[in-house]
Amino acid sequence: MTDKKTPKHVAIIMDGNGRWAQQRNKKRTFGHKAGVEKTREIVEACAEKHIQSLTLFAFSSENWARPEEEVSYLMELFILALKREVRMLNKNNVQLKFIGNIAGFSSKLQKSITDAQTQTINNDGLQLNIAANYGGRWDIVNAANQASLNLAPDELLSEEVLEAELTTKELPTLDLMIRTGGEKRISNFLIWQAAYAELYFSDKLWPDFDSTELDKALEEYGDRQRRYGKTGEQISHETE
Ligand code: IPE
Ligand code: IPE
Ligand code: MG
Repeated sequence: MTDKKTPKHVAIIMDGNGRWAQQRNKKRTFGHKAGVEKTREIVEACAEKHIQSLTLFAFSSENWARPEEEVSYLMELFILALKREVRMLNKNNVQLKFIGNIAGFSSKLQKSITDAQTQTINNDGLQLNIAANYGGRWDIVNAANQASLNLAPDELLSEEVLEAELTTKELPTLDLMIRTGGEKRISNFLIWQAAYAELYFSDKLWPDFDSTELDKALEEYGDRQRRYGKTGEQISHETE
């Protein structure tokens, strides 16, 4: 891996917890619990590999539509995991940040989020972004609203101005988006940011996705040629 290019910013749609549990004749919530364990392993692996930024899709703006029992289990799990994992984050020099409409969560969960963010604020290794109550369309509309507040009367929005208001504004450009669980869709994740990201789909269900699987994705990323509209020959000349 050493002489291959490494992505600066990786995003993961952690999908397949429910099916993983159902395959074991357990409730879907059992899969979410196993999913948290895997999240820890992947965060530690990314920190070790000196990836700058990792954005994980934990709860989408559409996931509220799930059965009440599953949603409330997830909320409790987030509170528990935030409390438990701060030590691991500090040990690995990881700075935690939430992106998403956090105001939509209970005040208890909002407090857990703020506390965990504060406790890791001085870490300068991996930047871990948890997308919770996140929707790509929400991110864009929110950014457009924010940006329009600062526009002169006849000024139109530009890509740069809008981008500077997205929740990812302080992060490196998204290089690689991974989705586990076999589905081949973006499900309203970082839709703007994924415009030129490399996409990687794994059939592994999230609780089965380990650091070896992550290595496969990084390996494949290293072999891809990112052309940004140019020809392959142009890119080969540039990198010679
Ligand atoms: C992803 O796993 C986790 C969340 C959406 C919170 P799923 O719960 O969607 O698992 P499947 O897709 O039903 O197997
Ligand atoms: C996307 O997974 C959201 C997260 C992983 C948090 P879903 O399982 O909710 O996606 P769809 O509904 O199958 O597209
Ligand atoms: Mg799913």
